[in-house]
Amino acid sequence: MASRIRVGIAGTGSYVPERAVPNAYFEGFLDTSDEWIVQRTGIRERRFAAEDEATSDLCVHAANRALEDAGIGPEDLDLIVVGTLTPDYPLPSAACLIQDRIGAKRAGAFDVAAACTGFMTSLSTGEAFVAAGRARRVLVLGAETLSRFVDFEDRGSAIIFGDGAGAAVLTPHDECGQGEILRTTLGADGSGYDYIHISAGGSRHPPTAQTVEERKHFIQMRGREVFRFAVSHMSEMISEMLDGYDQEELTLVVPHQVNRRIIDAALDRLGMTDEKVMVNIHKYGNTSAATVPVALDEAHREGRIEKGKLVVMVAFGAGLTWGGALVRW
Ligand SMILES: CC(C)(COP(=O)(O)OP(=O)(O)OC[C@H]1O[C@@H](n2cnc3c(N)ncnc32)[C@H](O)[C@@H]1OP(=O)(O)O)[C@@H](O)C(=O)NCCC(=O)NCCS
Repeated sequence: MASRIRVGIAGTGSYVPERAVPNAYFEGFLDTSDEWIVQRTGIRERRFAAEDEATSDLCVHAANRALEDAGIGPEDLDLIVVGTLTPDYPLPSAACLIQDRIGAKRAGAFDVAAACTGFMTSLSTGEAFVAAGRARRVLVLGAETLSRFVDFEDRGSAIIFGDGAGAAVLTPHDECGQGEILRTTLGADGSGYDYIHISAGGSRHPPTAQTVEERKHFIQMRGREVFRFAVSHMSEMISEMLDGYDQEELTLVVPHQVNRRIIDAALDRLGMTDEKVMVNIHKYGNTSAATVPVALDEAHREGRIEKGKLVVMVAFGAGLTWGGALVRW
């Protein structure tokens, strides 16, 4: 068997839309309050895409920033993989639109459907392609325009979600000399498919006037069940990623920004302190596949990641799905 090529993260980038939507916005039409939302989720505001913006538009900004950070051009890319549950169209993929817009003339392109685990899945896929020598430079993204799929009549879910995009460029580690991906993991339990789902618009219930009338094209979520699943999986995955390594080597945990209370409960279980955890949920809410790459990019640009030390990324979501990665920065 050919030896595995070590893979590094050569650059990161992110983009959030300009329009910031504070909690007070929801007080106008839902029985909720800024106080409830802050206390129960940690969210203070989120970003919503402009009317003429869709997921690929957010991705193009994030991709260009990641390419610039990596110091490579779009024509150098061999592959683009996008984790998203909100592509511009059901057909074709968001990845193809991005490939065209950034001028990645030689690249293959596809989307992966893993909801909030979307970026962990695109990262894992990109890593496997580079490690196997099947691609040299891969752009991986996690991006969403969830504001188009939120049921603004449902206070239990409407207040959680936001829009954004994050990206990373993967190359052989020998080439970039940073961000070596030491391990990744992906998991699924489809028996929980209806914890978070959009029940119509696919092949089981194609769109009809009735499905629209019944609001079945919006996200439906069993928040309390997701909460329980999330706390246990977040702490278990962080432990699994660090297994065999000294916690002293850890520089930062970049968790899915799902709910501040879920992050705190998972940290509590692990006896970890706040300063080693990246949290930006107060600014952006839960942007599903975009939370981890946006937080990673912000941490990287803010100088919060110490070179040579370990970064753990974890996410989970609809499917149910979960995924993690351990990186030596
Ligand atoms: C959705 C979530 C914030 C709800 O918080 P919670 O503490 O679990 O609240 P509960 O669902 O137990 O509801 C408690 C009460 O608050 C009410 N409530 C729910 N949303 C509310 C809101 N926005 N404003 C005010 N009250 C609200 C409920 O109706 C319930 O009232 P009741 O006791 O009279 O029935 C929380 O469960 C969560 O974050 N889950 C994870 C969801 C997620 O991020 N999923 C995305 C995929 S990873």
